[in-house]
Amino acid sequence: MNKQHTLGIIGFGGMASHHNQSLIDYERVKVKGVFDVNIDRLKYAEELGLVAYSSKEELLADEEIDIVLIATTNEVHKELSIEAMAAGKHVICEKPVTLDSNELIEIMEASQKYGKIFTIDQNRRTNKDFILMRRNVEGGAIGKPYVIESRVEGSRGMPTGWRTIKELGGGMMLDWGVHLIDQLMHMVDEKVTSVYCKMYNIEYSEVDDNFRLTMTFESGLTAHIEVSTNNYITHPRWYVLGTMGTLVVYDWDCNGKIVRCIDKENKWEEEIVYTKAGPTKTMAPRNENTTESIDLTEPMDVVDHISVVYDQFVDAIEGKAELTITPEQALRVMKVMEASFLSAETNLAIETDI
Ligand SMILES: NC(=O)c1ccc[n+]([C@@H]2O[C@H](COP(=O)([O-])OP(=O)(O)OC[C@H]3O[C@@H](n4cnc5c(N)ncnc54)[C@H](O)[C@@H]3O)[C@@H](O)[C@H]2O)c1
Repeated sequence: MNKQHTLGIIGFGGMASHHNQSLIDYERVKVKGVFDVNIDRLKYAEELGLVAYSSKEELLADEEIDIVLIATTNEVHKELSIEAMAAGKHVICEKPVTLDSNELIEIMEASQKYGKIFTIDQNRRTNKDFILMRRNVEGGAIGKPYVIESRVEGSRGMPTGWRTIKELGGGMMLDWGVHLIDQLMHMVDEKVTSVYCKMYNIEYSEVDDNFRLTMTFESGLTAHIEVSTNNYITHPRWYVLGTMGTLVVYDWDCNGKIVRCIDKENKWEEEIVYTKAGPTKTMAPRNENTTESIDLTEPMDVVDHISVVYDQFVDAIEGKAELTITPEQALRVMKVMEASFLSAETNLAIETDI
Protein backbone atom coordinates (compact mmCIF):
# COMPACT_ATOMS: atom_id res chain seq x y z
CA MET A 1 0.00 0.00 0.00
CA ASN A 2 1.22 3.53 -0.76
CA LYS A 3 2.24 5.77 2.11
CA GLN A 4 -0.44 8.07 3.43
CA HIS A 5 0.86 11.60 3.96
CA THR A 6 -0.14 13.68 6.96
CA LEU A 7 -1.19 17.30 6.47
CA GLY A 8 -1.14 20.20 8.88
CA ILE A 9 -3.03 23.37 7.98
CA ILE A 10 -1.96 26.90 8.88
CA GLY A 11 -4.89 29.30 8.48
CA PHE A 12 -8.17 27.44 8.89
CA GLY A 13 -10.66 29.80 7.24
CA GLY A 14 -13.14 29.25 4.43
CA MET A 15 -10.75 27.84 1.84
CA ALA A 16 -8.90 25.59 4.27
CA SER A 17 -12.25 24.13 5.35
CA HIS A 18 -12.88 23.35 1.71
CA HIS A 19 -9.51 21.55 1.48
CA ASN A 20 -10.32 19.62 4.65
CA GLN A 21 -13.75 18.61 3.37
CA SER A 22 -12.37 17.63 -0.05
CA LEU A 23 -9.64 15.49 1.50
CA ILE A 24 -11.95 13.40 3.70
CA ASP A 25 -12.19 10.67 1.05
CA TYR A 26 -8.77 11.25 -0.45
CA GLU A 27 -6.58 8.28 0.37
CA ARG A 28 -3.16 9.79 -0.23
CA VAL A 29 -3.40 12.59 2.38
CA LYS A 30 -4.96 12.68 5.84
CA VAL A 31 -5.53 16.01 7.59
CA LYS A 32 -4.24 15.82 11.17
CA GLY A 33 -4.65 19.29 12.61
CA VAL A 34 -4.63 23.02 12.22
CA PHE A 35 -3.26 26.24 13.61
CA ASP A 36 -5.11 29.53 13.24
CA VAL A 37 -4.61 32.86 15.02
CA ASN A 38 -8.37 32.98 15.51
CA ILE A 39 -9.39 30.92 18.54
CA ASP A 40 -12.90 30.35 17.16
CA ARG A 41 -11.44 28.58 14.14
CA LEU A 42 -9.37 26.35 16.44
CA LYS A 43 -12.51 25.43 18.38
CA TYR A 44 -14.26 24.65 15.10
CA ALA A 45 -11.35 22.42 14.07
CA GLU A 46 -11.67 20.52 17.34
CA GLU A 47 -15.39 20.04 16.73
CA LEU A 48 -14.43 18.43 13.42
CA GLY A 49 -12.14 16.01 15.25
CA LEU A 50 -8.90 17.69 14.19
CA VAL A 51 -5.97 18.54 16.43
CA ALA A 52 -5.94 22.26 17.33
CA TYR A 53 -2.31 23.30 17.79
CA SER A 54 -1.68 26.20 20.13
CA SER A 55 1.03 27.69 17.90
CA LYS A 56 2.48 27.26 14.42
CA GLU A 57 5.71 26.10 16.10
CA GLU A 58 3.81 23.26 17.77
CA LEU A 59 2.29 22.23 14.45
CA LEU A 60 5.64 22.41 12.67
CA ALA A 61 7.30 20.36 15.43
CA ASP A 62 4.84 17.48 14.92
CA GLU A 63 6.99 14.86 13.21
CA GLU A 64 4.00 12.95 11.88
CA ILE A 65 3.11 15.93 9.68
CA ASP A 66 5.10 15.83 6.44
CA ILE A 67 3.11 18.35 4.42
CA VAL A 68 1.69 21.74 5.31
CA LEU A 69 -1.07 23.74 3.63
CA ILE A 70 -0.73 27.52 3.96
CA ALA A 71 -4.23 29.00 3.64
CA THR A 72 -3.92 32.23 5.58
CA THR A 73 -4.43 35.72 4.25
CA ASN A 74 -1.87 36.52 1.56
CA GLU A 75 0.61 38.78 3.36
CA VAL A 76 2.04 35.91 5.44
CA HIS A 77 2.23 33.22 2.73
CA LYS A 78 5.95 33.86 2.20
CA GLU A 79 7.16 33.73 5.80
CA LEU A 80 4.98 30.74 6.70
CA SER A 81 5.98 28.75 3.59
CA ILE A 82 9.66 29.30 4.30
CA GLU A 83 9.28 28.43 7.99
CA ALA A 84 7.43 25.23 7.13
CA MET A 85 10.09 24.13 4.64
CA ALA A 86 12.84 24.98 7.13
CA ALA A 87 11.01 22.66 9.57
CA GLY A 88 11.27 19.87 7.00
CA LYS A 89 7.77 19.99 5.52
CA HIS A 90 6.68 19.98 1.89
CA VAL A 91 4.36 22.93 1.26
CA ILE A 92 1.21 23.58 -0.71
CA CYS A 93 0.32 27.26 -0.60
CA GLU A 94 -2.92 28.96 -1.54
CA LYS A 95 -3.02 31.50 -4.35
CA PRO A 96 -1.88 34.20 -4.84
CA VAL A 97 1.33 32.51 -3.82
CA THR A 98 2.84 35.81 -2.57
CA LEU A 99 2.33 39.55 -2.86
CA ASP A 100 5.10 40.00 -5.44
CA SER A 101 7.69 38.10 -7.45
CA ASN A 102 10.61 38.86 -5.08
CA GLU A 103 8.79 37.10 -2.25
CA LEU A 104 8.23 34.08 -4.46
CA ILE A 105 11.91 33.98 -5.43
CA GLU A 106 12.75 33.77 -1.69
CA ILE A 107 10.40 30.79 -1.38
CA MET A 108 11.99 29.12 -4.41
CA GLU A 109 15.44 29.56 -2.85
CA ALA A 110 14.17 28.04 0.41
CA SER A 111 12.68 25.10 -1.49
CA GLN A 112 16.11 24.45 -3.05
CA LYS A 113 17.96 24.98 0.24
CA TYR A 114 15.79 22.63 2.29
CA GLY A 115 15.09 20.15 -0.54
CA LYS A 116 11.32 20.41 -0.10
CA ILE A 117 8.58 20.38 -2.74
CA PHE A 118 6.60 23.61 -3.04
CA THR A 119 3.41 23.92 -5.07
CA ILE A 120 0.49 26.30 -5.34
CA ASP A 121 -3.24 25.64 -5.31
CA GLN A 122 -3.99 26.83 -8.85
CA ASN A 123 -7.10 24.67 -8.71
CA ARG A 124 -8.93 26.47 -11.52
CA ARG A 125 -6.82 24.80 -14.18
CA THR A 126 -9.20 21.88 -13.68
CA ASN A 127 -12.41 23.93 -14.09
CA LYS A 128 -14.65 22.33 -16.68
CA ASP A 129 -15.54 25.57 -18.47
CA PHE A 130 -11.83 26.24 -19.03
CA ILE A 131 -11.10 22.72 -20.26
CA LEU A 132 -14.13 22.78 -22.56
CA MET A 133 -12.94 26.03 -24.17
CA ARG A 134 -9.34 24.87 -24.35
CA ARG A 135 -10.09 21.50 -25.95
CA ASN A 136 -12.25 23.00 -28.65
CA VAL A 137 -9.86 25.82 -29.45
CA GLU A 138 -6.80 23.57 -29.46
CA GLY A 139 -8.71 21.00 -31.51
CA GLY A 140 -9.00 23.58 -34.28
CA ALA A 141 -12.80 23.94 -34.14
CA ILE A 142 -12.66 27.67 -34.88
CA GLY A 143 -9.44 27.86 -36.88
CA LYS A 144 -6.56 29.89 -35.48
CA PRO A 145 -7.58 31.78 -32.34
CA TYR A 146 -6.64 35.45 -32.23
CA VAL A 147 -8.69 36.84 -29.33
CA ILE A 148 -9.62 35.05 -26.10
CA GLU A 149 -11.94 36.84 -23.69
CA SER A 150 -12.16 35.49 -20.15
CA ARG A 151 -14.47 37.01 -17.57
CA VAL A 152 -15.83 36.39 -14.12
CA GLU A 153 -18.45 38.87 -13.00
CA GLY A 154 -20.53 39.37 -9.90
CA SER A 155 -22.70 42.20 -8.66
CA ARG A 156 -22.42 41.84 -4.88
CA GLY A 157 -19.22 43.83 -4.44
CA MET A 158 -16.26 42.33 -2.60
CA PRO A 159 -16.64 40.39 0.62
CA THR A 160 -15.75 42.64 3.56
CA GLY A 161 -12.58 41.91 5.52
CA TRP A 162 -9.05 41.29 4.30
CA ARG A 163 -9.99 41.27 0.61
CA THR A 164 -10.53 45.05 0.85
CA ILE A 165 -7.16 45.76 2.52
CA LYS A 166 -4.07 46.32 0.38
CA GLU A 167 -1.39 45.22 2.84
CA LEU A 168 -3.16 41.90 3.44
CA GLY A 169 -3.10 41.20 -0.31
CA GLY A 170 -6.67 42.27 -1.09
CA GLY A 171 -8.17 43.26 -4.44
CA MET A 172 -9.49 41.35 -7.41
CA MET A 173 -6.24 41.12 -9.37
CA LEU A 174 -4.65 39.03 -6.61
CA ASP A 175 -7.88 37.20 -5.84
CA TRP A 176 -9.36 36.19 -9.22
CA GLY A 177 -6.89 37.72 -11.67
CA VAL A 178 -4.27 35.20 -10.58
CA HIS A 179 -6.55 32.31 -11.63
CA LEU A 180 -7.58 33.73 -15.00
CA ILE A 181 -4.04 34.75 -15.95
CA ASP A 182 -2.73 31.35 -14.84
CA GLN A 183 -5.33 29.53 -16.98
CA LEU A 184 -4.31 31.41 -20.12
CA MET A 185 -0.56 31.19 -19.52
CA HIS A 186 -1.01 27.47 -18.87
CA MET A 187 -2.85 27.13 -22.19
CA VAL A 188 -0.79 29.42 -24.45
CA ASP A 189 2.83 28.33 -24.64
CA GLU A 190 4.21 31.73 -25.62
CA LYS A 191 5.84 34.73 -24.03
CA VAL A 192 3.68 37.64 -22.90
CA THR A 193 4.97 40.69 -24.75
CA SER A 194 2.70 43.43 -23.46
CA VAL A 195 0.19 44.18 -20.74
CA TYR A 196 -2.35 46.97 -20.48
CA CYS A 197 -4.61 47.13 -17.45
CA LYS A 198 -7.29 49.45 -16.15
CA MET A 199 -8.28 49.05 -12.51
CA TYR A 200 -11.39 50.46 -10.87
CA ASN A 201 -12.27 51.41 -7.31
CA ILE A 202 -16.04 51.36 -7.36
CA GLU A 203 -16.57 50.63 -3.66
CA TYR A 204 -13.13 50.42 -2.14
CA SER A 205 -10.39 53.02 -2.55
CA GLU A 206 -7.48 50.86 -1.35
CA VAL A 207 -7.70 47.93 -3.74
CA ASP A 208 -9.00 47.16 -7.23
CA ASP A 209 -12.55 45.82 -6.98
CA ASN A 210 -12.83 45.55 -10.80
CA PHE A 211 -10.20 45.37 -13.53
CA ARG A 212 -9.82 44.96 -17.27
CA LEU A 213 -6.56 43.54 -18.56
CA THR A 214 -5.29 43.05 -22.10
CA MET A 215 -2.37 40.65 -22.43
CA THR A 216 -0.65 40.17 -25.77
CA PHE A 217 1.29 37.00 -26.56
CA GLU A 218 4.29 36.78 -28.89
CA SER A 219 2.25 35.57 -31.88
CA GLY A 220 -0.16 38.50 -31.56
CA LEU A 221 -2.85 36.41 -29.84
CA THR A 222 -4.61 38.75 -27.41
CA ALA A 223 -6.32 37.85 -24.16
CA HIS A 224 -8.85 40.14 -22.51
CA ILE A 225 -9.40 39.35 -18.86
CA GLU A 226 -12.07 41.07 -16.82
CA VAL A 227 -12.98 40.59 -13.20
CA SER A 228 -15.92 42.61 -11.93
CA THR A 229 -17.88 42.83 -8.73
CA ASN A 230 -20.38 45.39 -9.96
CA ASN A 231 -21.91 43.87 -13.14
CA TYR A 232 -25.67 43.45 -12.98
CA ILE A 233 -25.78 42.03 -16.51
CA THR A 234 -22.97 39.60 -17.25
CA HIS A 235 -20.97 38.70 -20.35
CA PRO A 236 -20.23 35.07 -21.24
CA ARG A 237 -17.50 33.32 -19.23
CA TRP A 238 -15.50 32.69 -22.45
CA TYR A 239 -15.71 34.29 -25.89
CA VAL A 240 -13.08 33.27 -28.42
CA LEU A 241 -12.54 34.52 -31.96
CA GLY A 242 -10.81 32.27 -34.46
CA THR A 243 -10.13 32.65 -38.16
CA MET A 244 -12.91 30.16 -39.02
CA GLY A 245 -15.44 30.61 -36.24
CA THR A 246 -16.45 31.89 -32.83
CA LEU A 247 -16.76 29.98 -29.55
CA VAL A 248 -18.81 30.99 -26.57
CA VAL A 249 -19.08 29.32 -23.15
CA TYR A 250 -21.74 31.18 -21.23
CA ASP A 251 -21.24 29.94 -17.72
CA TRP A 252 -19.56 27.56 -15.27
CA ASP A 253 -22.21 24.96 -16.21
CA CYS A 254 -20.59 24.79 -19.64
CA ASN A 255 -23.56 25.98 -21.68
CA GLY A 256 -22.13 27.22 -24.92
CA LYS A 257 -21.76 26.84 -28.65
CA ILE A 258 -19.48 27.20 -31.63
CA VAL A 259 -20.60 28.88 -34.81
CA ARG A 260 -18.20 28.24 -37.64
CA CYS A 261 -17.88 28.95 -41.28
CA ILE A 262 -18.57 26.05 -43.65
CA ASP A 263 -18.65 28.11 -46.82
CA LYS A 264 -16.28 31.05 -47.23
CA GLU A 265 -18.00 31.73 -50.58
CA ASN A 266 -20.02 34.68 -49.46
CA LYS A 267 -21.39 36.67 -52.37
CA TRP A 268 -21.50 40.36 -51.67
CA GLU A 269 -24.61 42.21 -52.81
CA GLU A 270 -24.18 44.80 -55.52
CA GLU A 271 -26.43 47.22 -53.70
CA ILE A 272 -26.31 48.53 -50.18
CA VAL A 273 -28.41 46.57 -47.64
CA TYR A 274 -30.93 48.40 -45.45
CA THR A 275 -31.09 47.42 -41.78
CA LYS A 276 -32.95 49.03 -38.85
CA ALA A 277 -29.77 50.97 -38.20
CA GLY A 278 -29.64 52.22 -41.77
CA PRO A 279 -27.70 51.21 -44.88
CA THR A 280 -24.64 48.94 -44.65
CA LYS A 281 -22.64 46.56 -46.75
CA THR A 282 -20.02 45.20 -44.33
CA MET A 283 -22.43 44.44 -41.49
CA ALA A 284 -25.31 43.08 -43.55
CA PRO A 285 -26.51 39.74 -42.12
CA ARG A 286 -24.78 36.68 -43.49
CA ASN A 287 -26.52 33.86 -45.32
CA GLU A 288 -27.17 31.32 -42.55
CA ASN A 289 -26.46 28.37 -44.87
CA THR A 290 -22.79 29.30 -44.86
CA THR A 291 -22.26 28.53 -41.14
CA GLU A 292 -22.97 25.67 -38.78
CA SER A 293 -23.78 25.89 -35.09
CA ILE A 294 -22.62 23.22 -32.65
CA ASP A 295 -23.84 23.11 -29.06
CA LEU A 296 -21.17 22.49 -26.45
CA THR A 297 -21.72 20.23 -23.48
CA GLU A 298 -20.03 19.69 -20.14
CA PRO A 299 -16.89 17.51 -20.49
CA MET A 300 -17.98 14.58 -18.32
CA ASP A 301 -14.54 12.95 -18.26
CA VAL A 302 -13.00 15.94 -16.46
CA VAL A 303 -12.46 15.89 -12.69
CA ASP A 304 -12.98 19.43 -11.46
CA HIS A 305 -11.67 18.83 -7.97
CA ILE A 306 -8.94 19.85 -5.54
CA SER A 307 -7.56 16.27 -5.47
CA VAL A 308 -6.05 16.92 -8.92
CA VAL A 309 -3.78 19.54 -7.34
CA TYR A 310 -2.85 17.18 -4.50
CA ASP A 311 -2.19 14.31 -6.92
CA GLN A 312 0.54 16.21 -8.76
CA PHE A 313 1.95 17.41 -5.39
CA VAL A 314 2.06 13.94 -3.82
CA ASP A 315 3.46 12.39 -7.03
CA ALA A 316 6.32 14.92 -6.88
CA ILE A 317 6.95 14.26 -3.17
CA GLU A 318 7.11 10.52 -3.87
CA GLY A 319 9.41 11.08 -6.85
CA LYS A 320 6.88 9.57 -9.27
CA ALA A 321 6.50 12.62 -11.51
CA GLU A 322 7.47 16.24 -11.86
CA LEU A 323 5.18 18.91 -10.44
CA THR A 324 2.68 20.23 -12.96
CA ILE A 325 1.95 23.39 -10.93
CA THR A 326 5.41 24.82 -10.47
CA PRO A 327 6.79 27.91 -8.71
CA GLU A 328 8.37 28.91 -12.06
CA GLN A 329 4.91 29.09 -13.65
CA ALA A 330 3.60 31.06 -10.67
CA LEU A 331 6.52 33.46 -11.04
CA ARG A 332 5.47 34.31 -14.61
CA VAL A 333 1.90 34.95 -13.42
CA MET A 334 3.21 37.17 -10.60
CA LYS A 335 5.21 39.16 -13.14
CA VAL A 336 2.16 39.69 -15.35
CA MET A 337 0.23 40.92 -12.30
CA GLU A 338 3.07 43.28 -11.38
CA ALA A 339 3.08 44.67 -14.93
CA SER A 340 -0.72 45.06 -14.64
CA PHE A 341 -0.41 47.14 -11.46
CA LEU A 342 2.26 49.28 -13.11
CA SER A 343 0.10 49.74 -16.21
CA ALA A 344 -2.92 50.75 -14.12
CA GLU A 345 -0.81 53.21 -12.14
CA THR A 346 0.81 54.84 -15.18
CA ASN A 347 -2.06 54.39 -17.65
CA LEU A 348 0.45 52.98 -20.12
CA ALA A 349 0.83 49.69 -21.95
CA ILE A 350 3.85 47.90 -20.47
CA GLU A 351 6.17 46.00 -22.80
CA THR A 352 7.11 42.69 -21.22
CA ASP A 353 9.31 39.67 -21.84
CA ILE A 354 7.61 37.19 -19.53
N1 LIG B 1 -7.92 28.46 -4.70
C1 LIG B 1 -9.11 29.01 -4.53
O1 LIG B 1 -10.05 28.78 -5.28
C2 LIG B 1 -9.31 29.94 -3.35
C3 LIG B 1 -10.60 30.34 -2.97
C4 LIG B 1 -10.73 31.18 -1.85
C5 LIG B 1 -9.60 31.60 -1.17
N2 LIG B 1 -8.37 31.21 -1.59
C6 LIG B 1 -7.14 31.66 -0.89
O2 LIG B 1 -7.09 31.02 0.39
C7 LIG B 1 -6.51 31.90 1.35
C8 LIG B 1 -7.48 32.11 2.52
O3 LIG B 1 -8.67 32.67 2.01
P1 LIG B 1 -10.06 32.45 2.77
O4 LIG B 1 -11.13 32.84 1.85
O5 LIG B 1 -10.09 31.09 3.38
O6 LIG B 1 -9.91 33.54 3.92
P2 LIG B 1 -10.45 33.45 5.42
O7 LIG B 1 -10.41 34.83 5.95
O8 LIG B 1 -11.73 32.70 5.46
O9 LIG B 1 -9.35 32.56 6.16
C9 LIG B 1 -8.05 32.98 6.46
C10 LIG B 1 -7.69 32.39 7.82
O10 LIG B 1 -6.30 32.60 8.06
C11 LIG B 1 -6.15 32.92 9.44
N3 LIG B 1 -4.85 33.59 9.61
C12 LIG B 1 -4.47 34.83 9.19
N4 LIG B 1 -3.19 35.06 9.51
C13 LIG B 1 -2.73 33.94 10.12
C14 LIG B 1 -1.47 33.56 10.65
N5 LIG B 1 -0.41 34.38 10.63
N6 LIG B 1 -1.37 32.33 11.21
C15 LIG B 1 -2.42 31.48 11.25
N7 LIG B 1 -3.65 31.80 10.77
C16 LIG B 1 -3.79 33.01 10.19
C17 LIG B 1 -7.35 33.78 9.76
O11 LIG B 1 -7.60 33.85 11.14
C18 LIG B 1 -8.45 33.05 8.98
O12 LIG B 1 -9.08 32.07 9.75
C19 LIG B 1 -6.16 33.18 0.61
O13 LIG B 1 -4.83 33.12 0.19
C20 LIG B 1 -7.09 33.14 -0.60
O14 LIG B 1 -6.59 33.87 -1.71
C21 LIG B 1 -8.22 30.37 -2.65
